[in-house]
Amino acid sequence: MSEPFAQAIDASTRYCAVFGHPIKHSASPAMQNAGLIALGLNWRYLAFEVRPEELREALAGAKRMGFVGVNLTVPHKLLAVDMVDALDESGRLWGAVNTVRFEGRDKTGAWLPLPQFADVAPEKVRAQGFNTDAEAIVRSLREDLGAELRGTRVLVLGAGGAGRVTALKMAAESVGELFLVNRTHAKAASLAAEIRQRHGMVRVSLGYPRGEVDLTINATSVGLRPDDPMPHDEKQFSLRQSRAVYDMIYRPAETKFLVAAKAGGSRVANGLGMLLYQGAKALEIWTGQPAPVEIMRAALTKNVYGD
Ligand code: ATR
Repeated sequence: MSEPFAQAIDASTRYCAVFGHPIKHSASPAMQNAGLIALGLNWRYLAFEVRPEELREALAGAKRMGFVGVNLTVPHKLLAVDMVDALDESGRLWGAVNTVRFEGRDKTGAWLPLPQFADVAPEKVRAQGFNTDAEAIVRSLREDLGAELRGTRVLVLGAGGAGRVTALKMAAESVGELFLVNRTHAKAASLAAEIRQRHGMVRVSLGYPRGEVDLTINATSVGLRPDDPMPHDEKQFSLRQSRAVYDMIYRPAETKFLVAAKAGGSRVANGLGMLLYQGAKALEIWTGQPAPVEIMRAALTKNVYGD
């Protein structure tokens, strides 16, 4: 896993990066560099502390210096929508960008990923924005939890950045009924209105469900700190009501929420898979090759949880 790059950095090395604030604890460099090594590419993946007010300048810098692409994490995903030169369907659909690919214009006028320009750098370069988070949620729910979504009853806790994409994606996957809960009720209400408008077939309710649900997803930040309470109101909803429980938090590996869910008999998974699959898809967008997912998973797990 800790195999080194076969080739030392030289003048033809290409770069990818993640921009965030804070960025120090990002596991993306470990995961992505393991992927790059496995693919045998003379590329490197770096991490940069970028404040939101510096994002535009940082993107312009990466573009100017011929970076292959960048990932964006908190707090840049919404801001970047207005900073890229073009939006892929996924970026448009989810209204958030977590992956940027820099592309050059060839002689025919087509936009191609920068690594395809081997010798002469293109005159015109653009940044195209993608979103790989939404697909990653579904892939992780399916692969890590065995969850099929169509027609099911799903409770989503949280209506911030992560909660919004999660709830919209659940609706796009044709769940039967969606329950939304958020500390700030107005945010859940406006999310519910957006879902009703975009996905008229899905029943959306505000508040906790009565009876059983197939899946509960914690998309709040509650659980990141050891002394955090539960992200849900235990008087109004018991995790025993949920067949499967997913916590987007992956550090710690088992939040109180997941421990309780497991003790109550629910199937459980944390958000590491989501981080993995959004990264794997980003790597595929940049390289045009299938990502070495298991190698990336091993590197990610080692970075986050140690040996
Ligand atoms: P992210 O991009 O990770 O979703 P965010 O947009 O800041 O980050 O959203 C954080 C989510 O956690 C929100 O749903 C937030 O609730 P509010 O919309 O009311 O802010 C939720 N959250 C954060 N701290 C919380 C707390 N102490 N109790 C309950 N919910 C909390």
